Amino acid sequence: MTKQILVSGIKPTGDIHIGNYLGTLKNWVELQDKYNCFFFIADWHALTIKHDPKNYQDLILKTAMTLLSVGIDPKKSTLFVQSHLSEHAELCWLFNTLTPVAELERMTQYKDEAKQHKDNINAGLLDYPVLMSADILLYKPEVVPVGHDQLQHLELANVIAKKFNNRFGQYFEEVKPNLSKSPRLMSLTEPDKKMSKSLGPNNYIALDDSPEMIRKKVMSAVTDVGPTGSSEMSSGVRNLFILLEEFADKQTVVKYKNSYLDKTLKYSELKAELAEAIIKILSPIQERKAKLMKDQKKVQKILLDGAKQARTIAQKNLLEIKKLMGLV
Ligand code: TRP
Repeated sequence: MTKQILVSGIKPTGDIHIGNYLGTLKNWVELQDKYNCFFFIADWHALTIKHDPKNYQDLILKTAMTLLSVGIDPKKSTLFVQSHLSEHAELCWLFNTLTPVAELERMTQYKDEAKQHKDNINAGLLDYPVLMSADILLYKPEVVPVGHDQLQHLELANVIAKKFNNRFGQYFEEVKPNLSKSPRLMSLTEPDKKMSKSLGPNNYIALDDSPEMIRKKVMSAVTDVGPTGSSEMSSGVRNLFILLEEFADKQTVVKYKNSYLDKTLKYSELKAELAEAIIKILSPIQERKAKLMKDQKKVQKILLDGAKQARTIAQKNLLEIKKLMGLV
């Protein structure tokens, strides 16, 4: 039986943290056996926010290394860089002519980003979801793994697909989201907010953080903000337990849960053990990445091979789309 097609992308924006790892990348690695996966680095999408052209190639390559080091396997999946395939941009233009501007203006991410970057509300920011729809529909996938924050964009891809089908004939099938089951990690410093790069480096643990940095960040994580009069676990402590469940073995989790319940828990002990558990999981990933860093040619070759593989499908589908639209 041929495997169903799956597509997903990640922007090359620097540090990848353990929230991204548990929420996105670990899921991708597992999905590789079940689906015919196309994973790409969305370097065009990342341009909608100001970037540094001098470091950009380096950033893209390092993102690819991170994907490989966590377990994306080029023998199983197609890994490539978005901008290596001009087909994505071409389909984006075709979809632009089908997309009502009003649909784009009501996208939550667009409104948030426009508020955050008032000095740079470029057309690309508004058009972001159309390019994303092109990324997806170009491969006619069944499934797209996305975070909750991207669900609205996936819905738009389905709206565009329907519009296309209505005007030019049935071609695209509905694309289904695959939501990761992993819990939401909260910031270490502001545990009521989601772990995010925008809150600064102390609020997250990056996959590349050294053991010393991991220890330091975990040890200074916010726990109880003082007596609240409530018997409920504070969000900081709850976050530590979530982390413990993700990184430590069951026995350790049970041990600390019990000591929390009988009120003998020392946060410093929990944190010390949590830090070591995180280090243990991240070390092999970091070792693999260090090896890849020494063999950048190999990584570049993987990306070029991936682009070649993706192009075969992208070109075939794009030609069919253009035929239906009367362009060829
Ligand atoms: N917008 C996605 C994000 O920020 C990245 C992305 C770009 C993507 N194109 C995609 C994800 C296509 C899934 C499918 O996470």
